[in-house]
Amino acid sequence: MSEIIVSGIRSTGNLHLGNYFGAIQNFLKLQEQHECYFFIADFHSLTTHPTPSDLYGNTRQVLIEYLACGLDPEKCTLYRQSDIHEIPELYLLLNMNAYLGELERCTTFKEKARKQPNNINAGLLTYPVLMAADIIIHKATKVPVGKDQEQHLEMTRNFAARFNRMYGVNYFPEPVAYNFGEQLIKIPGLDGSGKMGKSEGNAINLIDDPDTIRKKVMKAVTDTGPTEPNQPMTEPIANLFTLMKIMSSPETYQYFLDRYNDCSIRYGEMKKQLAEDIIVFTQPIREKILSLSSNQTYLKKVVQVGAEKARVSASKTLREVREIIGFKDF
Ligand code: TRP
Repeated sequence: MSEIIVSGIRSTGNLHLGNYFGAIQNFLKLQEQHECYFFIADFHSLTTHPTPSDLYGNTRQVLIEYLACGLDPEKCTLYRQSDIHEIPELYLLLNMNAYLGELERCTTFKEKARKQPNNINAGLLTYPVLMAADIIIHKATKVPVGKDQEQHLEMTRNFAARFNRMYGVNYFPEPVAYNFGEQLIKIPGLDGSGKMGKSEGNAINLIDDPDTIRKKVMKAVTDTGPTEPNQPMTEPIANLFTLMKIMSSPETYQYFLDRYNDCSIRYGEMKKQLAEDIIVFTQPIREKILSLSSNQTYLKKVVQVGAEKARVSASKTLREVREIIGFKDF
């Protein structure tokens, strides 16, 4: 059965390899099979008070990078959250049935409040309500998000069910996480442990030029090398091999694995090869990013068409919700 899929994209930070092999590859698959709504969550980004030029610049850059990766406006509905006025309206309506207690209990809220004690604004508190509006405005059934968003999704189900119960309707579906199961590839970082992430500063970005990639890979953490055959790998080395398995040919991977196992490996040589293979992979995307960056006409068109498509289902939902609540025509 075809699902209705909604997912929001954070509007800050350049995409890195971890994003590509995680969320983005999944979006690319989903857009082939389902009715997908992917949007840039620019309203959400206001909780941290960006300057007007940062807000615009970040949104534009995120749009460009997703397009460059292959998100196809012909196959999915790709839009900017702030272009759909029905979203803040639904958010307002949902806020009337969202309770202070449950919002304060949300772990992401507590975490943010701890990190930015001088900016605990109401938008931060009601972030999950806005996210629920994003999702149920299209009556989504599935939401492809990571573990960190599970609680928000549970709150979305609560808000949807509460609306249904309150008005005695069976209007909003209760959306669940889209589970990728085995398919999810985790890209390790270059700093020896954990996964690639922008805040960790261990990431290779899709826009990095070849020299930047070489420098980053050459700096990757290693160890002093194996001293006996078939020695178990330390985490930094296992991470390098994981990266190589994804980025390089099976022959290359095997070559370095054999060198590791017979203790003749030179990590410098391995990293050099890995850097070149990453460059081969990222350069077409980087070129696409650069060419899209100078094609304002196309970007404008994408944003316009996306907003029009998103409004079709958003305005239908809002019309029906208003009717259910009792905002009837005279
Ligand atoms: N909260 C999500 C994140 O931080 C972004 C997001 C906003 C979202 N609205 C959404 C994700 C709706 C899925 C559906 O990544």
